[in-house]
Amino acid sequence: MKIIRQKKDLYKLINRINPISFIPTMGGLHKGHEILIKKAKKKNKNALVSIFVNPKQFNSKNDFKTYPRNFNNDVKILKNLRVKYLYCPKYKDIFSFKTRNKIYLHSFSKRLCGKYRPGHFKGVLNVVNRFLELLKPKYLFLGKKDFQQLTLIKQHIKKNKINTTVVSCKTVRDQSSLPFSTRNFNLKKHDKILASKVFKFLKKEKAYIKSKKIKKINLSNVKKKILNIGVKKIDYIEVINLDNLNKAKKYSENFNIFSAFYVGKVRLIDNF
Ligand code: PAF
Repeated sequence: MKIIRQKKDLYKLINRINPISFIPTMGGLHKGHEILIKKAKKKNKNALVSIFVNPKQFNSKNDFKTYPRNFNNDVKILKNLRVKYLYCPKYKDIFSFKTRNKIYLHSFSKRLCGKYRPGHFKGVLNVVNRFLELLKPKYLFLGKKDFQQLTLIKQHIKKNKINTTVVSCKTVRDQSSLPFSTRNFNLKKHDKILASKVFKFLKKEKAYIKSKKIKKINLSNVKKKILNIGVKKIDYIEVINLDNLNKAKKYSENFNIFSAFYVGKVRLIDNF
């Protein structure tokens, strides 16, 4: 695997290896990333993974500092998956050039995580746009666990007529329904058990809404139950219609339950 650290080396490479399948990451690789990479490799053998912990998308310095990092393990995983290219840019290489595109923040950015993490999505779009301008990938691989991020990136690409196709990949879970996430590395064993209880409960709740044909979805009891399970802080539990991004009201809509809550100091999100 070729590890690229300098922008000049990236420029030399880019023209040679186009079309590129691009998998942006912040490291701390796990089974969810592996699915993205495997899918990318199937489309096109020139898979390029980036590892860059983007400070602009963290709305707390402490969150940035404690975000799990494990470069040596990441390299091992990427080599095992036979990834050809790994780009690990310096902050300056990403943020010092003038961009062609303007960041487009769709109004969906104000909801869910946007409400609780001011500036987060602007930071995500800023870095993703810069990667797209540098790499000009044919395909961009993103996970459905971060549905809001996925949607906002798609909207930005569409608005700016960027010639990259977004490929979305399913959420991968362990046997206890816990979705794989880099933040899970900061969870203790009992935190994991608690989180998986919540996710299992929410999954059942969705099945209940569907099977009982609930016409007016109301999640206030659901929040109480989650607090009873032992969660100390909930940012949101919401049902969102995946087609129009509005709050879903009725069982027959194509909806997911979106959640963000804290287990200890770790903030977890999911949707299904
Ligand atoms: O999902 C992530 O890991 C990040 O938000 C991304 C897309 C790599 C941008 O920093």
